[in-house]
Amino acid sequence: MFQTNIFNTIPKQNTDNKMKIGIIGGTGGMGEGFALRWCKKHDIVIGSRDKNRASDVANNYTKTARDYYGESMKGSITGDNNFDLAQDCDVLFLSIPYESINETCNRLAGQIKENCIIVCPIVPMTREEKGFTYICFEHGKESAGELVAKNFKNRSNIVSAFHTISEVKLKKIDHGLDADTFVCGDDENTIKVINELIAEITGLRSIYLGPLTLSYQAEVLTPMLLNSAKRNKMKHPAIKLV
Ligand SMILES: NC(=O)c1ccc[n+]([C@@H]2O[C@H](COP(=O)([O-])OP(=O)(O)OC[C@H]3O[C@@H](n4cnc5c(N)ncnc54)[C@H](OP(=O)(O)O)[C@@H]3O)[C@@H](O)[C@H]2O)c1
Repeated sequence: MFQTNIFNTIPKQNTDNKMKIGIIGGTGGMGEGFALRWCKKHDIVIGSRDKNRASDVANNYTKTARDYYGESMKGSITGDNNFDLAQDCDVLFLSIPYESINETCNRLAGQIKENCIIVCPIVPMTREEKGFTYICFEHGKESAGELVAKNFKNRSNIVSAFHTISEVKLKKIDHGLDADTFVCGDDENTIKVINELIAEITGLRSIYLGPLTLSYQAEVLTPMLLNSAKRNKMKHPAIKLV
């Protein structure tokens, strides 16, 4: 099922332990949802191009999380500049627009730890008169997963996931998601770490879709979902295989 790489340098990370999770562009809606879901157990660092903005946002998220989790919150949420936080993270989420992938990843590549896992939830999408469209098909561009991979040395550290999860639902920590997320990646150990994080979000199930070259099949589902939602007056629908 997986392309096994015997030279893979990713150690089996013990996900019973806390990880340090950096969220590049964590000041946006998805970043808030990720932070609120995973701070119960892990140390989250919100990233921004503006360090002060990251710190302010992290303080707000911390208040929300502490109000909800109380004493059971074992992790933390802090804020930093995107590139300073990247240096000692175990996992980095790229929660930024498609258009900023090259500029951001090019700088990140020189900062991250060798074993750092990079997660790409990025959807290359735009809105046209006919509806939401997938930029890569319409304009002959690469999928977000593939574009991200081109910027980093080790392709096996990269996972593409979370494309069909609505930020609105992700941020509601008192609600389960009742949804699947498709996951693409080339390395079994890397996928395993991300599957553990997915399993920590109540009601979210990981569905392995295939290698990173298939990332476009997960990404294209988002404009499809948004068009369906808009035309059928549905609020924040998700996908679940039954
Ligand atoms: N929203 C959803 O429901 C949803 C669902 C599935 C997938 N996604 C994908 O997840 C990613 C994050 O979504 P989002 O809604 O949180 O995005 P967003 O709010 O549009 O942007 C997230 C953050 O990216 C940073 N950013 C903006 N322009 C940038 C640039 N040119 N260079 C570097 N950083 C920049 C900003 O942070 P600073 O200004 O603080 O640096 C911003 O707060 C997107 O790629 C989106 O396609 C979103």
